[in-house]
Amino acid sequence: MSQDKITSILKEDRKFTPPESFAAQANLTPELYKALKEEADRDYEGFWARLAKEELVWDKEFDTTLEWEPPFAKWFTGGTLNMSVQCLDRHLNTANHNKAAIVWEGEPGEQRTLTYAQLHSEVCKAANALESLGIKAGDRVALYMPMIPELAISLLACARIGATHNVIFGGFSANAIRDRVEDSECKLVITADGGWRRGKVLKLKEKVDEALNQGCPSVEHVLCVKRCDNHVIWNDDRDIWWHDIMPKQKTKHTPDSFDAEHPLFILYTSGTTGSPKGVVHSTGGYALWSKISAKWVFDLKPQDMYWCTADIGWITGHSYIVYGPLQNGATTLMYEGAPNWPEADRFWDMIERHRVSIFYTAPTAIRAFMKWGDEHPEAHDLSSLRLLGTVGEPINPEAWMWYHEKIGDSSCPIVDTWWQTETGGMMLSPVPGVTTTTPGSATHPLPGIQAAIFDSEGNEMPRGEGGFLVITKPWPSMLRTVYKNPERFKNGYFGRFEGVYFAGDGARTDDDGNFWILGRIDDVINVSGHRLSTMEIESALVSHDFVAEAAVVPREDDLTGQAIVCFVTLEEGDEGDALRAELSAHVVKEIGSLARPAAIHFTDALPKTRSGKIMRRILADVAAGRQPGDVTTLEDSSVLEKLRTIANETV
Ligand code: WT7
Repeated sequence: MSQDKITSILKEDRKFTPPESFAAQANLTPELYKALKEEADRDYEGFWARLAKEELVWDKEFDTTLEWEPPFAKWFTGGTLNMSVQCLDRHLNTANHNKAAIVWEGEPGEQRTLTYAQLHSEVCKAANALESLGIKAGDRVALYMPMIPELAISLLACARIGATHNVIFGGFSANAIRDRVEDSECKLVITADGGWRRGKVLKLKEKVDEALNQGCPSVEHVLCVKRCDNHVIWNDDRDIWWHDIMPKQKTKHTPDSFDAEHPLFILYTSGTTGSPKGVVHSTGGYALWSKISAKWVFDLKPQDMYWCTADIGWITGHSYIVYGPLQNGATTLMYEGAPNWPEADRFWDMIERHRVSIFYTAPTAIRAFMKWGDEHPEAHDLSSLRLLGTVGEPINPEAWMWYHEKIGDSSCPIVDTWWQTETGGMMLSPVPGVTTTTPGSATHPLPGIQAAIFDSEGNEMPRGEGGFLVITKPWPSMLRTVYKNPERFKNGYFGRFEGVYFAGDGARTDDDGNFWILGRIDDVINVSGHRLSTMEIESALVSHDFVAEAAVVPREDDLTGQAIVCFVTLEEGDEGDALRAELSAHVVKEIGSLARPAAIHFTDALPKTRSGKIMRRILADVAAGRQPGDVTTLEDSSVLEKLRTIANETV
């Protein structure tokens, strides 16, 4: 048992209670929050059944709340509904009819606003267009698109006709498209000629052509939006322009009603090893949790301008750009391009111009903003903000404090939301009018979510000790399976503990019952029998004024089993032995001599995937003096040059 224990070394005890003015108007008050938790503990299925009846528009009421044959769950069986109705039709002929649903800004600066009524018409037209191309309920449709309104329209049109969408992030290669389209046997690919990114055109249609030339026999048509007017090669038998087919369509479409368990979408996650997994999400359960989690955690109000900076190519965009906000009748801001185009202040400029009130982004972005300099946010009026959020990886306290002070003017609550592609929606998160936050902790499971920390035998760990983060009961928005691979679903998520969900993260609780994510369980370093979280060592490094970003990996060591190797990018200061010694002393001071780095390497950038996750495998190769292995999923391969030099210098 003791060898499962992760020694936690980070000490953080700053506490932030919700500002009174925020708490006074919050959707969830402490009383309501407590009542929800108690209700879920007392009558788990009754709790979910009540919410499902209150929050969703059912065409036919469900008979059974939960059928649980571990690891397979069915929620709200017997019930039927339509996801696009939850997002659109239900707002027509209400106060939301002429309210902005989507406010969009392209990277070059053009803007479009679609009201709920207009979005409804566009989605109806697109649904009719898809049907005219022979797409039926149950068919799979791939979307490989830039962040333009047509992407949200396509998502909702698929949902309307019951076609299962499969969004492929617009930064992926032709090979990645082929793998995903072939695995899910898509009949149609929706794309665009191009999309804008840092002033350049990403040629999307070209990548789709390349993928289809390599295979993908299931694809009958490619529907293409004209966005950048770049040259495209056209295949008359297969390709259709969006602007040719859409004007011919009726603006009305009678939606069918689908089983609660009907697969709404597949989304592939890269997985650190093996081929991408097609995570399958349902309609009813996913609709419910994406709606209420957004309402509780983002405290959505009719007057809010809500902005999630993710790409719809990731789950964050599915749940919290499109489905969550629209079901709540909110206004969701959608931005096409890069955060530093044309200048490093683009996001702050947009917050000022659109009067954004809720802002949701990733720690990796926050660290980039810190590096770019305080002058950028300082040049803008950010006073419209009232709530900040983060997602994607642990946020180091240093970045949390910067976000709090420089962006939130020390007055906006921060919601650090822990969840996964597989969970469909947020699982651990502060609720902004209720929870006392501490920088770096995702705090508590949301009402209805049953999280715990286990040792390898499946016993609950005492407070303060790190182990496996698990979810002990099924929840409505959980993945239902891995597409065409139920074995992989079973072994991958329910293989370690019988009937209990484990998706790979380590965590601990503290004396107040707050959860602290310690990163992927595979990212633990064992130094002389002490299992240390790489994330905590990284956090200590980043708390030094000179350090912008840090990544820590293990290296084999004869004496200690594994040794700590750090890769650091600097905000200021000179790369050299003097700073190395200083950083090493800093880590020892923050954590203890146990965590003394065996090596510190300076680099200009860290190798990251396109979703911003650090590729530790590459760094582990370099740390061991090996040339990096497979680098095909790297976002920016220019970082490799310096890493190769470091590898050569390492004996
Ligand atoms: C993994 C899931 C959920 C959408 C974005 C990522 C890490 C995510 C946090 C957080 C610490 C976090 C976990 C998780 N992660 N949010 N707030 N604190 N770690 O989705 O690509 O499926 O990745 O991201 O390791 O397992 P994903």
